[in-house]
Amino acid sequence: MDINNKVIVITGAARGLGLAMAEYLADKGAKIALVDMDFESVNHASSMITDSKGYVCNVANESEVEQVFEQIKNDFSRIDGLVNNAGILKDGLLIKYKDGEMNKMSLDQFQSVIDVNLSGVFLCGREAASHMVRSGQGGVIVNISSISRAGNFGQTNYSAAKAGVVAMTTAWAQELAKFDIRTGAIAPGFIETEMTAQMPQKAYDMAAQMSPLKRMGTPQEIAQAVSFIFENDFISGRVIEVDGGTRI
Ligand code: NAI
Repeated sequence: MDINNKVIVITGAARGLGLAMAEYLADKGAKIALVDMDFESVNHASSMITDSKGYVCNVANESEVEQVFEQIKNDFSRIDGLVNNAGILKDGLLIKYKDGEMNKMSLDQFQSVIDVNLSGVFLCGREAASHMVRSGQGGVIVNISSISRAGNFGQTNYSAAKAGVVAMTTAWAQELAKFDIRTGAIAPGFIETEMTAQMPQKAYDMAAQMSPLKRMGTPQEIAQAVSFIFENDFISGRVIEVDGGTRI
C-alpha cells in the first residue's frame, strides 16, 4: 500500500507507541484518525499532526467503537488502515502463597486486561474491516502484540491477550484476503514509553539488559515496522518481532 493520502486509524494514539506511529505515518502523507480514551492528550496530539483528527473512545466498549468508526468514515470519507495499538497492563501473579496465606488474581484483574487488549482489538478490527469491505477498496490491519505473547511471569492476563491478538491476525488474513485486506502484527520487546516508565527501576534496568543489544527499543523503531507492514503487499497474517533479540 502506498501510504500517501491513505486514512489510517490508530488506537491508543495519544502517547507512546501510538503517537510515534501517527507521526511516522503522517510524515509519509497519511491522514490519521487518533483514537484514545484520554481526551486532553488525544486533542493535544492531533493539534501537532497535520491532516489528523482526535477521537475519544474506549476500545473495549462496543457501541463507542461502532460510533467512532462511523464518525471517522464520515469525516474522512474512507478508512484504509487500522493499527490496533491501545493496551494496558495490570500485572500480578496467578496466586501468591506466603506464610499460609493465599492471594488469588481476581477475575476483574484478568478480565479488564482481556477487555482492552483482546476484545478491544476484536471490536476495532471488526469495525474497520466492515468499512473497508463496504468501500470495496481493501485495506491493512496491524495489531500490536508483545514479546509476552509467549507467556511471561506475572502476566497471565496480558500474555493471554497478546497471544490471542496474534491468532486473530492470522484468522483475519485468511478470512479477509478475498476483500483485498491484509493483516500483520508486531511483537515489540521492551520499548521506552510511559508504560515501561511505570516499571520499578530494577526491573527496567534488567529489561534493557535482556536484549543482546543491551538497550530498550525506541517508539520510532516500532513505528517503522508498522509502516513496513503497510507498504509490503506480500505480508499478511504474520507477526514481526521487534525486540532486539530479547527472549523472556
Ligand atoms: P502507553 O501506556 O504509553 O499508551 C497507551 C495508550 O492507550 C494511552 O494513550 C492510553 O490512554 C490508551 N488506552 C488505554 N486503554 C484504552 C482504551 N480502553 N481505549 C482507548 N485507548 C486506551 O503504552 P505503550 O507503551 O505506548 O504501548 C502501546 C501498545 O504496545 C500496547 O498495546 C502495549 O501492550 C504494546 N507493547 C508495549 C511495549 C513497551 O515496551 N512499551 C512492549 C510490547 C507491547
